Amino acid sequence: MSEVCLILGATGEVGRRVVAAMRARGLAVRGASRAPEGPGMVRFDLLDRSTHGPAFEGVSAVMLISRPGDEEARVHAAPVVAAMAAAGVRRVATLSALGAGRREDFSLRRVERLVEGSGMAWTHVRPNFFMQMLARPPLSAEVAAKGTLSLPLGDARIAYVDAEDVAAVMARALTDDALIGRAVDVNGPESLGHHEVAATIARAAGRDVRYVALDEDEARRLMERRGFPPAQVGRVLRFYALAREGWCAAADAEVAGLLGRPPRTFDRFAAAHASAWR
Ligand SMILES: NC(=O)c1ccc[n+]([C@@H]2O[C@H](COP(=O)([O-])OP(=O)(O)OC[C@H]3O[C@@H](n4cnc5c(N)ncnc54)[C@H](OP(=O)(O)O)[C@@H]3O)[C@@H](O)[C@H]2O)c1
Repeated sequence: MSEVCLILGATGEVGRRVVAAMRARGLAVRGASRAPEGPGMVRFDLLDRSTHGPAFEGVSAVMLISRPGDEEARVHAAPVVAAMAAAGVRRVATLSALGAGRREDFSLRRVERLVEGSGMAWTHVRPNFFMQMLARPPLSAEVAAKGTLSLPLGDARIAYVDAEDVAAVMARALTDDALIGRAVDVNGPESLGHHEVAATIARAAGRDVRYVALDEDEARRLMERRGFPPAQVGRVLRFYALAREGWCAAADAEVAGLLGRPPRTFDRFAAAHASAWR
């Protein structure tokens, strides 16, 4: 029987790294995008059912994603999961998020439950905030232009994780039978305060960088000025509120054991991405 893995969101921070990691291991892998380019890519849109059946043809395992911040993620995942089961997919690895194990009403937890009830073998991958968020706009652009990192995080600590490590865990979740029926929290190796994050960026970029702790109103106004749609502003503020409650602070307990190496430190990540902040 065919052993092709299909990676939804194959152009995203995690998806493109999963495709690369699996290709490097010589595994048969296909990527999916709404605008596929190049060999090994198929068209797939969570919101367009006509793309579902063709994408899952001959596929044995799927990395399932939800659109970033989609409050209706379960509604959009339902026809996708049904199409996978109908096409004979045997295994699903869900790209979820940290915290899905603590709140049954989270949209990504609802997707997880749908997958658990699908009859397919499943693994959920629940990452913390990606380090990459700090090295891409709008945060990287603010650091580059003003030497400040403004976030409504007070003295919250976050165990930021490199998307590369999330992808490595995801590749295991798609192929290692020991992970079937498990949810894996994917945290970075250190619980970082944001003065420390700013200082690490400053060292790497060779410039002054200062953390500015915003209150919620200041953060809302800043995101509005940056052109975030109102629904997204509310959502992002809710994530930050959970981080202030300490939800994202715990450092890695699983990744090092799974990968046989510690996850990447922010120091090393920053050194490799220094140009993003200059
Ligand atoms: N960023 C974080 O810190 C973080 C932390 C924990 C969990 N997560 C979760 O990880 C997932 C991906 O987030 P991300 O930040 O990695 O996003 P990202 O890098 O921006 O990637 C998003 C991916 O979603 C795909 N996509 C968007 N709309 C789609 C649609 N209608 N149909 C099919 N594919 C669609 C895009 O593919 P195309 O545009 O090519 O179609 C893209 O590959 C989200 O569910 C998010 O909640 C993110």
